[in-house]
Amino acid sequence: MSRFHFPVKEQPQHVLDLNLPPNMSCTLLRKRNIAIKEMPLPILQPDGVLVKVIATGICGSDMHNFLAGGVGGRPPAKNLVMGHESSGEVIAIGELVTTHKVGDRVAIEPGLPCRRCVNCKNGRVNICLEMKYCGAPGSVGSLARFHALPADMAPKIPDNVSWEEAGSIQPLAVGVQIGKRADIRPHQTIAIFGCGPIGLITAAVSHAYSASKIIAFDHNPERVAFAKKYISPLTGKPIIDHVFLTEPLPTTPPTGAAQLNGHAHGNGNGHAHANGDADGDGDSLSERIGENGSGAGIGDGEFPPDDDRHIPIGDHKWEWAKLRAGSYLKQAGMSGEDGVDRVIEATGAEDCMMMGIAMAKQGATYLAVGLSHQQSHWFPTLAVTNKEIDVRGITRYTSSCFPSALEMLSRGTVDLKSLITIAFPLSQSQQAFEAVASGKQMKVIIKNQEV
Ligand SMILES: NC(=O)c1ccc[n+]([C@@H]2O[C@H](COP(=O)([O-])OP(=O)(O)OC[C@H]3O[C@@H](n4cnc5c(N)ncnc54)[C@H](O)[C@@H]3O)[C@@H](O)[C@H]2O)c1
Ligand SMILES: [Zn+2]
Ligand SMILES: [Zn+2]
Repeated sequence: MSRFHFPVKEQPQHVLDLNLPPNMSCTLLRKRNIAIKEMPLPILQPDGVLVKVIATGICGSDMHNFLAGGVGGRPPAKNLVMGHESSGEVIAIGELVTTHKVGDRVAIEPGLPCRRCVNCKNGRVNICLEMKYCGAPGSVGSLARFHALPADMAPKIPDNVSWEEAGSIQPLAVGVQIGKRADIRPHQTIAIFGCGPIGLITAAVSHAYSASKIIAFDHNPERVAFAKKYISPLTGKPIIDHVFLTEPLPTTPPTGAAQLNGHAHGNGNGHAHANGDADGDGDSLSERIGENGSGAGIGDGEFPPDDDRHIPIGDHKWEWAKLRAGSYLKQAGMSGEDGVDRVIEATGAEDCMMMGIAMAKQGATYLAVGLSHQQSHWFPTLAVTNKEIDVRGITRYTSSCFPSALEMLSRGTVDLKSLITIAFPLSQSQQAFEAVASGKQMKVIIKNQEV
């Protein structure tokens, strides 16, 4: 871990006196292969707390290491201790700590910024140049019996929040940061790609912030079915207004006479999905939501049908994306609108990036949340320019997100309980990760003390 955070190398006597059991930890040996191994007990620092970890959530990001050898192809470190969504009970405090006491229930903020680099100094601690992040290569995860961290990174959990929910506070903190980065405000329309925990939590946060309409997309029918039943604790009704099951975008041109200008009918794959001009009024919705929607385009990439220059696959997909986006908006009762105010891409999939830009209205904000196993994708850059879309990225959460997440939970404006579908003991971590990989569970929790 960071040289700044763990300068003391000897365990204080009062921790040794606790005679703690071995620090069994979930370690990744190689791709899709986990072992529960004894790892050294982390050293309690003078400004830190030692936490007996009770519950840990697993998420899509953990799966990149587990399944694919790391985000963007980065290989996982040898014997990487996994996990970054944990909470537990304080069992010892450092000699300088006045804010915590033994027995406190706390969440574990998994990112330790150096607090010294230029980004930290600018307040952007989540993109710290020396960030140590639990479960990421070069760091120690929290999927272990015990975890030590600076006391100020261990916010206290309200009494009415269960341990299981507490294991999902970190993704809620990410949801809060998504709200900040996408600048989600009341009365906006929001499209969310991906109905995994992050997509649904984003929907819940948007709903708590009084979004006027939320639509969501996924290609997994089970995720779509689950999303339709995600109920608001505020209204008792589904949070998401319309959830759509998506299909891959074809890589060949849409069929029909005016192939690439948005007037195509049908979608060439036998499914009655997208129909750019379903109302037959010649003013196709897909045309309006396209990159030339306002007529303000400064070169919208269109070309005459007899042009024999090479057409990139991405351009074919883009035409399909516009058709599909138009159809989805129409089905969501948004025919009169040019698109949505905010797009949250939480799949990491190229097709969703395409459809997200197609669905964004002029001047909208598009937030790239999803991580992919690969670096580059087809992305409709001309449309981004012509529609003047703010394309933004997000890295995890910032300092105020955990307190906001905890407050939302304790006030009951966001419900995490119904997202948790199964729990495993630490000893069955391999099964827990496979359960996440199956796509059949929503939020999977591991009970760290059950070894
Ligand atoms: N940027 C960040 O700070 C940050 C933080 C947390 C998670 N993430 C990433 O956000 C994404 C969502 O996280 P999660 O925990 O909900 O993951 P998840 O894997 O549970 O959810 C992703 C969803 O996307 C759907 N999906 C995948 N490909 C699709 C496609 N081609 N078309 C339609 N749907 C598709 C999947 O069926 C799944 O339901 C992941 O990529 C994760 O790594 C990023
Ligand atoms: Zn996570
Ligand atoms: Zn820093």
